[in-house]
Amino acid sequence: MEDIIRIRGGRKLNGEVRVSSCKNSVVAILPSVVLASEIVKLYDVPNIKDVQILIKLLEFLNVKVTADDDELTIDPTNISNIDLLDDDVMKLRASYYFMGALLGRFKHVRMYSPGGCNLGPRPIDLHLKGFEALGARIKQEGNIIEITADELLGDDIYLDFASVGATINIMLAACFARGRTTIENAAKEPEIIDLSSMLNKMGAQIRGAGTSEITINGVNRLKGCIHDIIPDRIEAGTYIIAAAACGEDVTVSNVIPQHIEALTSKLEEMGVRLEQGRDYVRVLRSEGLKGVDIITQPFPGFATDLQQPLTALLTKAEGDSHIEETIYAERFKHCKELNQMGADIEYKTGESMVHGPTPLHGADIFATDLRCGASLVIAGLMAQGETIIHNAYHIYRGYDSIVNKLKAIGADIE
Ligand code: EPZ
Repeated sequence: MEDIIRIRGGRKLNGEVRVSSCKNSVVAILPSVVLASEIVKLYDVPNIKDVQILIKLLEFLNVKVTADDDELTIDPTNISNIDLLDDDVMKLRASYYFMGALLGRFKHVRMYSPGGCNLGPRPIDLHLKGFEALGARIKQEGNIIEITADELLGDDIYLDFASVGATINIMLAACFARGRTTIENAAKEPEIIDLSSMLNKMGAQIRGAGTSEITINGVNRLKGCIHDIIPDRIEAGTYIIAAAACGEDVTVSNVIPQHIEALTSKLEEMGVRLEQGRDYVRVLRSEGLKGVDIITQPFPGFATDLQQPLTALLTKAEGDSHIEETIYAERFKHCKELNQMGADIEYKTGESMVHGPTPLHGADIFATDLRCGASLVIAGLMAQGETIIHNAYHIYRGYDSIVNKLKAIGADIE
C-alpha cells in the first residue's frame, strides 16, 4: 500500500460510520493475556498496525494466536519467557505493557525499552517506581531493561501524575503479588475499566478502576475468558469532528457517549448541532461556528488525543481558540502542516492559538504522529483542491479502514 493518502476536499459527508474497538484498550489487553493460564478469546478486535505488532510479540513468546476475521483466540499455555529483544518492541509504546505482565507472571522480564509517537519526552519513571514498590529490582543497560523480583509483595503506590500507562502496568504486575496493592491518583480512562473487567473475569481481584484509587488483591492464577473490547472513544471523536467540519447528516455509531462528553459539550459550545443516542452521535450540518478554549486533562477532561483533530475544525470557527496542552507540551506538529493549507495558528511549547475563520486549500503535507495525521485528514476533507498526506502509516496505526470509512460517507479519498 502506497504510503500516502490523497483527498480532494470540499465534499459534503452523509451517512453512517461505525467506530471500531478501542486501540488503547486492546494494546493493553493483548500483553495482559500473558498472565492467563488458559485460552482467551477477544471479539471485535480492530485491524490496525499496533495490534499486528503485538500479536507478533506474543508469538515471539510462543503464545499461539489464531485470527478469524475480527475474533482472536490466544493460547498462552506454552508461553516461554525468553528475552523480548525483538525490534518490533520499539515500534510502539504499548509494548511496555509486557513489562508489567511478564514481571507479574514470571517475576522476571528482559526487553527493549518502548518506542511510539514522537510527542516529546515520554519517560516511564512512574511505571518503574511502581514495580520497585512491589519488590522488583530494575537494571538498564543501554536500551535494554531488565526487571527482576524474588517475590512480589503488595504495597501502597502513589502516582505523581495520573498516568494511563503506569496505572495499567502496575495493575498487571500486582495481579499475583502477595497481599493488597493500592494505586493512588490512578488514571480513570475507560480503557482501564475495560482491562480491569476482563482481568476480573479471569479471576483477578481488582476494585475501583475508573476512580483515582484502585486496589488489587493478589491471586495465584488467572483462567481464560471471552472479552468484547469497548469502542474507541478517540476514533469516535475524530469522526464526529470530521462530520462537524464537512457533514450534512452523519451518524457515528458504536459510541459510548459518556466517554466523549468533554468533546461533545465543547462542540455544542461551538454551535455544532448534535443528537446523542444510547450508542450513537448524529451530527447535522452546522454553520457559523464560534471559537472555543480547550485545556487537555486526564479523563474525564478533554482528551489530549483529540486536541489535534479539533484544531482542524477550529480553523473554520469565528474568532480565536486557545488550546492549552497539559499532557504533552510538544503535541503541536500538526500546526505547521495546517498553516501550509492556509490556517493561521500560532503555537509554542504547551499551547496554541487558532485565529479563524481561514479557508483551507489543498497541499503536500506530512503526518508526524497518529493524531496529527487524523487532523490532516480532516483538514484535507475541508480544503478546496487536492491534499496529499505523506507518511500515512502513522494514521493506519490507530484508525481501522479510515479511507473506506470516509469513502462510504462521501469523501473523495484514496
Ligand atoms: C496513553 O499514553 C495513550 N496511549 C496516549 O494515546 C494518550 O495520549 C495518553 O495515554 C494520555 O491520555 C496508549 O494508551 C497506548 P500517560 P501513556 O502515561 O500511557 C507523563 C494515542 O494517540 N509520564 O498518561 O503514555 C508522560 O510523559 C496515544 O493513541 C511520566 O512523566 O500516557 C506524559 O506527559 C498518544 N512518567 C503524561 O505523563 C511516566 O512514567 C501522560 O502520560 C509516565 C507518564
